[in-house]
Amino acid sequence: MKVDVLLGLQWGDEGKGKVVDVLTPGYDLIARFQGGPNAGHTLEFNGEKYVLRSIPSGIFQGGKMNIIGNGVVLDPLLFKQEAESLLASGYDIRPCLRISKKAHLILPTHRMLDAANEAAKGAGKIGTTGRGIGPAYTDKVSRNGLRVGDILNNFEERYGVAKARHEALLKALNFSYDITEMEKEWMEAVEYLKQFRLIDSEYAINGYLVKGKRVLAEGAQGTMLDVDFGSYPFVTSSTTTCAGACTGLGIAPNRIGEVFGIFKAYCTRVGSGPFPTELFDETGKLMSERGREFGSVTGRARRCGWLDLVGLKYAVMINGVTQLIMMKSDVLDTLETIKVCTEYRINGELTDEFPYESTEVIEPVYEEFPGWMTDMTGMTSENEFPEEYNAYLSFIEEYTGVPVKIVSIGPDREQTIVREE
Ligand code: GDP
Ligand code: IMO
Ligand code: MG
Repeated sequence: MKVDVLLGLQWGDEGKGKVVDVLTPGYDLIARFQGGPNAGHTLEFNGEKYVLRSIPSGIFQGGKMNIIGNGVVLDPLLFKQEAESLLASGYDIRPCLRISKKAHLILPTHRMLDAANEAAKGAGKIGTTGRGIGPAYTDKVSRNGLRVGDILNNFEERYGVAKARHEALLKALNFSYDITEMEKEWMEAVEYLKQFRLIDSEYAINGYLVKGKRVLAEGAQGTMLDVDFGSYPFVTSSTTTCAGACTGLGIAPNRIGEVFGIFKAYCTRVGSGPFPTELFDETGKLMSERGREFGSVTGRARRCGWLDLVGLKYAVMINGVTQLIMMKSDVLDTLETIKVCTEYRINGELTDEFPYESTEVIEPVYEEFPGWMTDMTGMTSENEFPEEYNAYLSFIEEYTGVPVKIVSIGPDREQTIVREE
């Protein structure tokens, strides 16, 4: 069997959590392959709302196995809070969750280093989620990291060595902090983690495939935040693209099956960095309000703007997307005119490629479409779609060369329409 991969094509928050939940009945195993608690994946069903950060979005559709893969960075304290809050809502995830021993740990001092690095950058800060993601991945790559499996063996000593290194760095950055209380809770959370099955997840996942079981890999963040192909340096510290599913789970490239690429019918971005189609007008405000565009983790306002097909086509290319999924088109239901960016003008030259320099002044070139001006949130079949909506979809399909197979017209699980062939 092959592994299907679901990932974001923009700057994150496309609606990955919702769609993973919707697709879960068709799979036996859901596996998160990168990122950490910088993610906030929202699911809504039966009038309830849940936000997942490190735990895969397949845990609500009873009986399916979920894995936190080796490519993830895990903060035991935030994980414990997440698991306990799910338990309080009636979801005991212990039987259906496994964690890779090779996933790296986020230490309290990683969070401090994240804050210290941001402070040192001043106006050039990235606007991270402050969850210690960058410093934890830095330690992984520089071969100083602590892994989940380490908690089972001589952990206090290893922790002490890592902490001492971090303290020296924080001192050099002249950063003052107090982690006494957090550290105590973090250590308790490390003990809590031991009741979960910590495994060599690459064997487990490949075992599922050999047995003919279906596996869905869940990405976090989005392609434009990828450490290689995103708008560097305003990116996260992991491989958010399809290749990240191979390294983050231990699956071979020839095992990749469908690649589901998710995008919003417009664009949002949290934190700093280029955003060519960003709007500062009433339309941007409307997107922010109707789309409730506030970070699910940090509560920060998300920047909003028109759909950027230059970026989308780039993301389709990098990931080998085979099916597109369009989210949140209901947010545009009241607009008379809808724009999509098809080219950039940079220094007077037209291009349909994303520029190398994140400091370039990019002027978006737009194609305009008449809005569908219809409340679509109650629709249940594509036969009900307004003509203008179909025209919008067709344009996106033609531009990217990939079919839009699913559209989402509201936050609820039910507000999802799968299009026929
Ligand atoms: P993720 O990080 O990709 O999982 O996305 P987030 O959960 O951070 O952000 C998506 C937000 O949009 C959440 O609040 C969802 O409940 C909401 N959402 C998802 N799909 C739709 C949709 O089709 N329409 C509307 N209006 N909201 C949606
Ligand atoms: P999900 O999975 C949106 C952004 C941060 C910041 C940059 C680097 O919910 O889509 P980091 O803390 O990772 O070092 O921050 O990346 N960012 C996200 N933006 N959705 C996310 O995750 C994000 N995870 C990180 O805002 O600009
Ligand atoms: Mg999110």
